Amino acid sequence: MALTSTGTLTDAARADGVGVAAFNVITLEHAEAVIMAAEAAALPVVLAISENAVKFRRGRLGPLAAACRVLAEEAAVPVALHLDHVESVELLRAAEGSGIGSVMFDASRLPYAQNVAATADAAAWAHERGITLEAELGEVGGKPGHPALDAHAPGARTDPAEAAAYVRATGVDALAVAVGSSHAMLDRTAALDHDLIARLRAAVDIPLVLHGSSGVPDAELRAAVAAGMTKINVGTALNIAYTGTLREHLAATPNRADPRPSLTAARESTATTITTLLRVITAKP
Ligand code: G3H
Ligand code: ZN
Repeated sequence: MALTSTGTLTDAARADGVGVAAFNVITLEHAEAVIMAAEAAALPVVLAISENAVKFRRGRLGPLAAACRVLAEEAAVPVALHLDHVESVELLRAAEGSGIGSVMFDASRLPYAQNVAATADAAAWAHERGITLEAELGEVGGKPGHPALDAHAPGARTDPAEAAAYVRATGVDALAVAVGSSHAMLDRTAALDHDLIARLRAAVDIPLVLHGSSGVPDAELRAAVAAGMTKINVGTALNIAYTGTLREHLAATPNRADPRPSLTAARESTATTITTLLRVITAKP
């Protein structure tokens, strides 16, 4: 029984001065790859299911969440379940009783006052049920279905004083901040603002969360953790490995009907990518 909570993992990571990796899963093979890698590295991990993944799963959270819960319960390492980038209050409420211990409620597109009101309501609802709530202030760009956003544009980044006021006003347990990363990058060229990370770390006392981490090089990830980021969210890097391997295997075997050999290779190459990232994110500075 290794199911744990994100809060337990981030508390331990902050005490150790290391990061916690959260990986977005879409298929059962993604989730299996995360567990394989975490067990091989003997490291704890967060399995994250995004609202977009739920949409892909025909609008149903239950089947993928149930699969992730069993994988977590049977894992040899601590595994937490997280619901990511939730804009729908209905989906937030579906987390209750699913084994999901943390939700990222994403009201970052709303004007500040509306973001505060919606997030405070979500946090109160979650806390009554023993669920922790992460929210986003500033907006990390590159989200599916959202207009492109320049991570380096003036005003795109999270302001430390506003972050402190936001945490006080909403009661959230973790804060996603805009510090130079962007979602869904296919190359690892993002440059983070480490001075801003340190100022945000000093301004708020809850775990800081880096989104869009696939586009962040290893050295930048290490520096981000050293400067004060705790939860490091990765999604696209898994899909680059998964889809790339699947594409190669299917192209090499045009007469094969059984998808399992190609899916096995995709799962293994995804696990290899995850193992490398896990070691970077959890390395002691
Ligand atoms: O919430 C999910 C993460 O921010 C993943 O972003 O797909 O760019 O790694 P990424
Ligand atoms: Zn994200």
